[in-house]
Amino acid sequence: MRVLSLLALAVSPARVLAWGAAGHEIVATIAEIYMLPSTMSTLCAILNMPYETCHLAPIASWADRIKGLPIYRWANVLHYVNPLGDHPSETCSFGEHGWVGREGINLLGAIRNTTDWLVDGKDGANEALKFLIHFIGDLHMPLHLTGRDKGGTDVKVHFARRTTNLHSVWDNLLIAKAIRETPRNYTRPLPSRRVEGALKGSIYDSYVRQIVWEGLLGVWQDEIVEWATCPIPAQPSLYSSAQTVLRRLRGFPPDTDDLLVCPYAWAADIHPLNCEIVWPAQLNMTDYLVAEGNEPTTPLLQLDEPWYSGRIKQEFLIERLLATAGIRLAAVLNDIFGEDDDVTSLGPLVDA
Ligand SMILES: *[C@@H]1O[C@H](CO)[C@@H](O)[C@H](O)[C@H]1NC(C)=O
Ligand SMILES: *[C@@H]1O[C@H](CO)[C@@H](O)[C@H](O)[C@H]1NC(C)=O
Ligand SMILES: *[C@@H]1O[C@H](CO)[C@@H](O)[C@H](O)[C@H]1NC(C)=O
Repeated sequence: MRVLSLLALAVSPARVLAWGAAGHEIVATIAEIYMLPSTMSTLCAILNMPYETCHLAPIASWADRIKGLPIYRWANVLHYVNPLGDHPSETCSFGEHGWVGREGINLLGAIRNTTDWLVDGKDGANEALKFLIHFIGDLHMPLHLTGRDKGGTDVKVHFARRTTNLHSVWDNLLIAKAIRETPRNYTRPLPSRRVEGALKGSIYDSYVRQIVWEGLLGVWQDEIVEWATCPIPAQPSLYSSAQTVLRRLRGFPPDTDDLLVCPYAWAADIHPLNCEIVWPAQLNMTDYLVAEGNEPTTPLLQLDEPWYSGRIKQEFLIERLLATAGIRLAAVLNDIFGEDDDVTSLGPLVDA
């Protein structure tokens, strides 16, 4: 069965698109591992799925699938946030100069809105939940946090033998490579019902096991609580009222953060990666822009090289972003839907 679906994946162009969904599905799968049973049962009810066969991965990229539909056109701008004055790799600015577009109509505002929607228990929770699961994934993709050249979509590069763009390298190709290169020992189930219960025979099962085993149970185990926490928002009284109004008008600090969910604080931590590694300094010129319509005058930059994809792998960077997103998604949904007396029923991650 597994062999057949892998073959289908190799030959069917329709399924190749599904790679783009892999990142979102992995985030949802990691979140599911950390979800309280009471949370999960409420989520499944909202999604109209029977609890026994209910998973979040299949709906994690719903928000991308509906992008072409006219009735959802309003949501297209909610997948990213574009800070003004931001131009990686030279300048990374995240909100100091405000934001592009209408106030609050961006990825940060959308996470606030959909979270509130679920907390308030309004009609349309099904849609709000599918959006929230997707948007928390997008928040952890550094190129969804910059507007330069459409988040790198207009920047042509090479990745191995493909001609592609910088955005797609991060959306798809680095994850696809990591999935392909997951060490063989992760094809075996881990001694954990919690982990294995969230897996459902996907091409990325081994990769999720590796992220959990080496990352969440390994190098990051002491960081997880901090990932899931929101900093206490700055007190308005720290600013004079004139300053507060001015900063509001410029869109900073956004009124998106509180102790339940803090998209601004979380994204502000991730955004500098654009200047540190995501946007190579060599791509500072316009030669690579697809939007200009001209043939590149310089050979395209090859990103599947030790200095780039090699370093990203060595630093476990993609894995860390996926894991952080999963942990935060679980934390927010457990806070909203988990029952207090359920907190202890999550059980150990590794079975005795
Ligand atoms: C807030 O989320 C709800 C539920 O998905 C949606 O119907 C509404 O249009 C959103 N509002 C904004 C301003 O994005
Ligand atoms: C898989 O192999 C790696 C490298 O040898 C090792 O560090 C890791 O602990 C192994 N994972 C499991 C689940 O045994
Ligand atoms: C772009 O980067 C290259 C290589 O790092 C450097 O030689 C060149 O001067 C830079 N160009 C601009 C316009 O900053």
